Amino acid sequence: MTQAAIATALAALEGHRVEIASRRIVDLFADDPGRAQRFRARLDDLVFDYSKHRASGVTLAHLFSLARAARLEAQRDALFRGEAVNLTEGRAAMHMALRDFSGGPAPVGGRDVTADVRAERGRMLAFAEQVREGRIRGATGQRFTDVVNIGIGGSDLGPAMAARALSPFGVGGPHAHFVSNVDGADLADTLKRLDLARTLFVVSSKTFTTQETMTNAASARARVAQALGEAAVGDHFAAVSTKLDLVADFGIQPDRVFGFWDWVGGRYSLWSSIGLALAISIGPANFEEFLRGGADADRHFAEAPMQDNIPVLMGLLGVWYRNAWGYGAHAVIPYDQRLARFPAYLQQLDMESNGKSVTRDGTPVAMATAPVIWGEPGTNGQHAFFQMLHQGTDVIPVDFLVAAQPIEADAHHHDLLFANCLAQSEALMRGRSRAEVEAQLRRQGLPDAEVARLAPHKVFEGDRPSSTFLYRRLDPRTLGRLVALYEHKVFVQSAIWNINAFDQWGVELGKELCSRLAPVVADGAAPLDALDPATAALVAERRALMD
Ligand code: F6P
Repeated sequence: MTQAAIATALAALEGHRVEIASRRIVDLFADDPGRAQRFRARLDDLVFDYSKHRASGVTLAHLFSLARAARLEAQRDALFRGEAVNLTEGRAAMHMALRDFSGGPAPVGGRDVTADVRAERGRMLAFAEQVREGRIRGATGQRFTDVVNIGIGGSDLGPAMAARALSPFGVGGPHAHFVSNVDGADLADTLKRLDLARTLFVVSSKTFTTQETMTNAASARARVAQALGEAAVGDHFAAVSTKLDLVADFGIQPDRVFGFWDWVGGRYSLWSSIGLALAISIGPANFEEFLRGGADADRHFAEAPMQDNIPVLMGLLGVWYRNAWGYGAHAVIPYDQRLARFPAYLQQLDMESNGKSVTRDGTPVAMATAPVIWGEPGTNGQHAFFQMLHQGTDVIPVDFLVAAQPIEADAHHHDLLFANCLAQSEALMRGRSRAEVEAQLRRQGLPDAEVARLAPHKVFEGDRPSSTFLYRRLDPRTLGRLVALYEHKVFVQSAIWNINAFDQWGVELGKELCSRLAPVVADGAAPLDALDPATAALVAERRALMD
């Protein structure tokens, strides 16, 4: 029944696309003087402007019908009830419980986890506070000036993104660094700048088996033992994991091990003890504000009607472009240098969640799923890839993010930053027609032949869609709201596509092949005949280059 209703809603959406395709975004504004005000949703002082889209009120009505056909609200409610929505792993996805200060029960499989969450968060934040205050020190008695998080994927991208975004809030605390890549350059380049006697390592891994993290952790441990003695290791390491037995084997003291639960997916774990390095760098109060921002977004997603619901609008507009228009990419361009890692963070959140080809029941999915998510901060991107956004053959919807106020008092810079952000979204929408280009060239006094030759190169098709997030300033609460809004947007899309957003089997094959290949690579004399010919040839080439 649901699948038939979805198919009907999608067919209607497709028919509507054909109707609206001849309408330009500027025409939609001309037809509807209230559009700029109405195509806007709010979460307190955070504004989501979605007026610059190829979408009318009728488009939204079609998208809401699609959402109803997919039983989006029922799916959302099941998520919030802590049901086992991650069907292939038989788990809930209840990361919202980590930021729930409502006092109400947060059920996971029918059990209230509120007390567990509060207790573990209390331990973790108390440790963070003691490190910041110098009550917990290194083996030589010196205060920690630096904390190095060793983790990868969800055990790295979230805290790394947030520590950078919120760096002005960490005054007086240790600096956070993040080592993720098994490429030894990552650890080496980080440690080059640090004094090990004043460095605390946090080994962050949900499974505590991830090759990259375990390799980096072992190397860091060896460096500490070499520099400060084996007895110093315990003072310089803490860990975050769901596998407390494996952490114990690594030799980290139990009072420095912070847990979380299997109902927290790796890419949703920033809100858990995985945020330890972040909490050390910005302090417990700011960390709690970040959590409260996430809770704001949860309430909004759970309660706001669809037409005012930011994650629902974000998700449905994404479905509109992905499925009705066939656009395969989505750019996220923060006009906020401190959000430089936000696109990378969203890549895991979105592409690891929704990069799926089968529905929840294992049948092939009938629609295209996750687009390529990418981006870099503006204004830098303007001088790199914006040419393609404006005049390339692919249309790429964009999310712009910008603060009304800077954190520092650099009003002039910020005015320019803000103007650039708005100018780009306006240029994408408006474009510049052939007639406008020709008139401009003629005004410059160019002869007709030159006008005709140059004009095609200067035309901007326009009509390229974008959303703009405007917030007062990039503080912990705002960041929490933004991150959780994107989490829920990903969920909305998974609900429409009927896919499981909470597993990631697609990362397994490469890991398995690597564990078979690594011994062959390490042993320069190992036979290569069991390898596939392409792999064998490259291993042989590498051996030749090792001389
Ligand atoms: O390889 C993918 C992945 O499993 C992610 O889902 C996860 O965030 C990352 O690896 C790290 O995993 P762990 O926290 O268990 O080390």
